Amino acid sequence: MKFDTPATTNPIDQLKVVGHPLDRIDGPLKTTGKAPYAYERHDVVARQAYGHVVGASIAKGRIASMDLAAAKAAPGVITIVTARNAGRLGKGKMNTARLLGGPEIQHYHQAVALVVAETFEQARAAAQLVRIDYVATKGMFDLAEAKGLATQPKGEDADSSAGDFNGAFAAAPVRFDGTYSTPDHAHAMMEPHASIAAWEGDRLTVWTSNQMIDWGASDMAKTLGIPKEKVRLISPFIGGGFGGKLFLRADAVLAALGARAAGRPVKVALQRPLMFNNTTHRPATIQRVRIGTTQGGKITAIGHESWSGDLPEGKPETAVNQTRLLYAGPNRMTAMRLAVLDLPEGNAMRAPGEAPGMMALEIAVDEVAEQLGMDPIDFRVLNDTQVDPEKPARPFSQRRLVECLRQGAERFGWAQRLAKPGQRREGRWLVGLGVAAAFRNNLVMKSAARVRLDKQGLVTVETDMTDIGTGSYTIIAQTAAEMMGVPIEKVVVRLGDSRSPVSAGSGGQWGANSSTAGVYAACVKLREAVARKVGLDAKDAVFTDGEVRSGDRRFKLAEAAGEQGLSAEDTMEYGDLDKKFQQSTFGAHFVEVGVDAFTGEIRVRRMLAVCAAGRILNPKSARSQVIGAMTMGVGAALMEELVVDKRRGFFVNHDLAGYEVPVHADIPHQEVIFLDETDPISSPMKAKGVGELGICGVGAAVANAIYNATGVRVRNYPITLDKLL
Ligand code: MOS
Repeated sequence: MKFDTPATTNPIDQLKVVGHPLDRIDGPLKTTGKAPYAYERHDVVARQAYGHVVGASIAKGRIASMDLAAAKAAPGVITIVTARNAGRLGKGKMNTARLLGGPEIQHYHQAVALVVAETFEQARAAAQLVRIDYVATKGMFDLAEAKGLATQPKGEDADSSAGDFNGAFAAAPVRFDGTYSTPDHAHAMMEPHASIAAWEGDRLTVWTSNQMIDWGASDMAKTLGIPKEKVRLISPFIGGGFGGKLFLRADAVLAALGARAAGRPVKVALQRPLMFNNTTHRPATIQRVRIGTTQGGKITAIGHESWSGDLPEGKPETAVNQTRLLYAGPNRMTAMRLAVLDLPEGNAMRAPGEAPGMMALEIAVDEVAEQLGMDPIDFRVLNDTQVDPEKPARPFSQRRLVECLRQGAERFGWAQRLAKPGQRREGRWLVGLGVAAAFRNNLVMKSAARVRLDKQGLVTVETDMTDIGTGSYTIIAQTAAEMMGVPIEKVVVRLGDSRSPVSAGSGGQWGANSSTAGVYAACVKLREAVARKVGLDAKDAVFTDGEVRSGDRRFKLAEAAGEQGLSAEDTMEYGDLDKKFQQSTFGAHFVEVGVDAFTGEIRVRRMLAVCAAGRILNPKSARSQVIGAMTMGVGAALMEELVVDKRRGFFVNHDLAGYEVPVHADIPHQEVIFLDETDPISSPMKAKGVGELGICGVGAAVANAIYNATGVRVRNYPITLDKLL
């Protein structure tokens, strides 16, 4: 189905099921441990052997020699896979480095061997006996040093401009020029990357943990050099991804290679201490923001440059994205520069681009407002725009940033804030309030589903969409229930299997709106099939209470389905392909912190997010997404940093003891408000994404609150207490 924008009235708008704060239908399975993760699928295939990954202990260079004799002779060892015996391997489209390294080593902890044994303990013990000699070569590991060598990355989007930035900035009566830095971040999801692989002849089945089933299946086929039809990926339950599971990773490829070599199924979980250097991470950035305004606070020039690094062939962190769209101003420039670093490969982490970009821009905005003597909310409101400021002919499909800021200010008690920092004291605590805008683009992806109606009146939805803890099962069930006029208990949802129609997958906050739009399309077809079967015109047919009705005629869906049942499949293709509208999501983050005046300890005391993100399909799961993202944003503000060993080129704190993340219990009060809106340009669901909006701006709101509390402006994240003393 081709989506015609703008969306007209459709059955979703009844909102009998969609838009309600229903509990997650997979909740009981998750909370009782009955939603198995890939590594726990002891039931799916017999004789599972265990693989243990050996990671390279240098960052760059070559393997000179590998002695496997002792490991091979160890108890229980079945086989050892290395680049020497694995056969010719391709590289997946989404991977920057090879998932099995050797003899060339591209980054620290790149997988170089898989030891397969009868038990996990035997595989782990034997892996310690693998002897590898390396010839290390000099690498570049320091972004600050590499910055001078950074170049314009491929692709026309690296730079943008409008008007005359340099001239306008030089002439502006109020000028601000600040440089910020954000460190490398790890996804640190709860469930490690893990897979079980089994071959049946030349057919491969992999039970895995992956956000994007179709990308994974394609890249598995490409890596192994086999047809995609021979690969099946199954990933129904996922313990978090945050972008770290968007791509095929070493666990899946090595399980497949191990299973082929062992002649039996093999399971591989990446060891937690291996994950941080073996998989992807959010790349560190250095960002320069320049803003020029009139005396009255109107932006006349805005510039944002970002430097990040990646392995050769890698991509920049697109940290200037939001600056192209968030504030008005006739003279603009943005630029991204990419340096070659020999650290592990960088890639997407929750709101890639905007998450670190907003951490810089929204401190800068706070600094400019202070320089102007303006309230930072008034400054943002004054510089609002309803059109893409780089291409003024393009309006935003919906943009209610001002309402988010104003409502949030009211709700949070912004009026209590003292403009002068360091003035509010409660005992030993210095108290401050901070605000930041939230911004994340709304991406829309093609998505397909199959729906079946059976003789019991049960509706079954199948799509390769994934649920990474976000609530996909539930909103998909709500969509099918609304469309087919049945209670949600009558809907069965099957996700995460590459045999099902290809969905948008879970990424870039496009999953909720796109995948449900695919289910909508399939349901439209199923409604037509049902109507045809009972001799009604689909256009007048009303689906409600388990029946299809038209005029005085009515039929039970169960009867209409008949013995054979009815099924339909369709794909939703996005309508606004020529991008007549700019689609983005907006919000405002408010934070109150207490800073211990003696120790510098920082406590986040209250947070509020106000989000304008189209129709909210399920306010309960959406709220969970946003408070989770707010918590993650606090992590980025205060704790999270992959510490780079700049001599040897690896992330030092590569486990959950050294890489600290906050939990909900660290923040006593979090509140989320969704503005009541629909976006008819986004899809027939009229929804948008919200799971990444929730993190964008949080770091800066925390930083701005800390400044308000203490008068210390920290421009280098994370804001640890030593930076305040
Ligand atoms: Mo997201 S970083 O696209 O999972």
